[in-house]
Amino acid sequence: MVKVVEITEFGDPSVLKINQKDLQKLQPNEVLVENKSIGLNFIDTYHRTGLYPIPLPSGIGLEAAGVVKEVGPDVKLFKAGDHVSHASMPIGAYSELQIMPEAKLVKVPKSINFEEASAITLKGMTCEYLLHRAYKAKKGEVLLFHAAAGGVGQLFCQWAKALGCTVIGTVGSDEKIQIAKKNGCDHVINYSAQDFAAEVLKITNGKGADVIYDGVGEKTFEKSLEAIKLRGMFISFGNASGPVKTIDLKKHLAPKAIFFTRPSVMPYTATREELELSAGRVFEAMESKKIKIDIFKKYSLDEARKSHEDLESRKLLGPAVLIP
Ligand SMILES: NC(=O)c1ccc[n+]([C@@H]2O[C@H](COP(=O)([O-])OP(=O)(O)OC[C@H]3O[C@@H](n4cnc5c(N)ncnc54)[C@H](OP(=O)(O)O)[C@@H]3O)[C@@H](O)[C@H]2O)c1
Repeated sequence: MVKVVEITEFGDPSVLKINQKDLQKLQPNEVLVENKSIGLNFIDTYHRTGLYPIPLPSGIGLEAAGVVKEVGPDVKLFKAGDHVSHASMPIGAYSELQIMPEAKLVKVPKSINFEEASAITLKGMTCEYLLHRAYKAKKGEVLLFHAAAGGVGQLFCQWAKALGCTVIGTVGSDEKIQIAKKNGCDHVINYSAQDFAAEVLKITNGKGADVIYDGVGEKTFEKSLEAIKLRGMFISFGNASGPVKTIDLKKHLAPKAIFFTRPSVMPYTATREELELSAGRVFEAMESKKIKIDIFKKYSLDEARKSHEDLESRKLLGPAVLIP
């Protein structure tokens, strides 16, 4: 029997239940992974609440790192004992053991431990495509990143700084200001206390940011339009405060001729080639110390509910993992 976290209904963290389950039979192209560490991500809360609807009952979790225990007969890329991670469907990473399609796993270099790997695969690949492919961030450009002290935020700001960008980060409390600075922000604005758009315009001498990276969504969307430069790039990639309900081309995009995209990891790692490119860049960035990860908190699987409560109440001061 395997310990898993599952939901049978959408709702607050109390819907997360610990169950014991039998594993299904391994299919020819599947890999059985013993999860050593599981990434906690905001998207897990969207699946739990039904903001991103999933068929129920369902496991939860999209990111984990562990050891290959067994491979199906058609598996070519992995063998028992390999260290692997993933940031992908099928949902169900909150589990001691997990069956994954071969195509969705990546090999983790031995220099990167399981906790690190489970905290940089999804978050790191997000930063990879945000900085290199959704938009190719260039030295000297001004990037505004919302929730800069968060899990994705800490990695993003380090990586953007390493690329030579000027990084403006927003945070929701004063205690997060130093964290964002330590992770590469040149300027940090507490958006709970200050008008962040006015601050960005001050910093950029009235021009606005070249690119806005917005994972906060509803609460920051309209104001971010004031902070972006003429013909700037707006990358909306999350909904921590709730989803942006409507994009009105005439009202929101036309006045400054803004470029707008709403990307996510799955379409940016759709092929094996893209997945390997993205994960490879993340692991290289770790190994060359462009980025480093400080795990802020570790929970047991039994504490999954608490982990969601802490994440949603903005208490986490960095990436967190669940240890089975
Ligand atoms: N599209 C993609 O490919 C992709 C991939 C990964 C993550 N994401 C998105 O990136 C964002 C960050 O993800 P993460 O897992 O690293 O989470 P996180 O940043 O560690 O946590 C979310 C942060 O959002 C801020 N926030 C602002 N308003 C909030 C509210 N009303 N409720 C809760 N939090 C609020 C909080 O920071 P402050 O207190 O500083 O405001 C909080 O710490 C999320 O929106 C996530 O969905 C998108």
